[in-house]
Amino acid sequence: MSKPKAYVGRAIVDSALSRLAEVADVRVWPSPTRCPDDVLLKEIGDIEVFLGNNRWTGAVMDQAPKLRLIANISVGYDNVDVPAATQRGLVVTNTPGVLSDTTADTAFALLMTAARRICEAGRYVRAGKWVAVGGSASMFGHDVHHATLGIIGLGRIGFEVAHRALGFHMKVLYHDVVRREDLEKQYGLQYVDMDTLLSESDFVSLHTVLSDQTRALIGAPELSKMKRTAFLINASRGEVVDEPALIDALKEGKIAGAGLDVFAKEPTDPNNPLLKMDNVVALPHIGSATEATRVAMQQLAVDNAIAVLQGKPPLTPVNPEVLSKKL
Ligand code: DGY
Repeated sequence: MSKPKAYVGRAIVDSALSRLAEVADVRVWPSPTRCPDDVLLKEIGDIEVFLGNNRWTGAVMDQAPKLRLIANISVGYDNVDVPAATQRGLVVTNTPGVLSDTTADTAFALLMTAARRICEAGRYVRAGKWVAVGGSASMFGHDVHHATLGIIGLGRIGFEVAHRALGFHMKVLYHDVVRREDLEKQYGLQYVDMDTLLSESDFVSLHTVLSDQTRALIGAPELSKMKRTAFLINASRGEVVDEPALIDALKEGKIAGAGLDVFAKEPTDPNNPLLKMDNVVALPHIGSATEATRVAMQQLAVDNAIAVLQGKPPLTPVNPEVLSKKL
């Protein structure tokens, strides 16, 4: 009997691919960046499972009549129209948990780098500007230890950022639609409303999903509530911030700086004004980008695919309501 067909829309490690190949006939896009949309459309006509990070609209799903699973190789799944998938009985899975520590490390690195002007100081010394003892006075930054961190979105990654902050003796405020009294008791985190978080934090770090509720969550009104000495850190999704409003706030000195791993459009335009500002630390969306974590994400996506192909529930569905109907 022929095996079900799978398409992997970006290169994954051999150890993950060979596990998938035990249960499916697998075709793979050979590059680590996702396959172009026209390639996707050509490849999906006969597949039952898809693994990767492509954009899936309802119209694209309709070109894949045998499809049962979209296994996203990321924790964020804003690239998939989940209601459209649910309507079509398609399971969507993501890769939560395995990347929380790595992504929290990135967010905390952004926070420290922005606060202590690490990139700027590195450029200064390489440019031969460090010519006198005491010249480093022009590189004064902001303290991280004992400062106040405001976390918007206390999910797995947000919590790991909070956990790191406690090691730096920071006061940790958070805001979320779900209140975590257990974490408040255990770790001394303080739940506050958005306005309090924005006005009292020295660092505001974003860890929400991107949804209709969180798109442009941080715009001009929110930025103007932040302290002039505060930093905005974003390792979630670029569209959670109104980018033109952030550019204005930085230009006008309404906040002290920003640490950004994500942008409204990715890859961001090299002429994006944010990239020209000394008080902005910019990264190319490397939140989860360590080898061990990326492999773990790929293996989890393969685990989800194998489960579905074997008629079992996937490990990490984002629309579990379709399972009772489909499996
Ligand atoms: C995710 O998993 O959503 C990350 O943004 C990928 O790096």
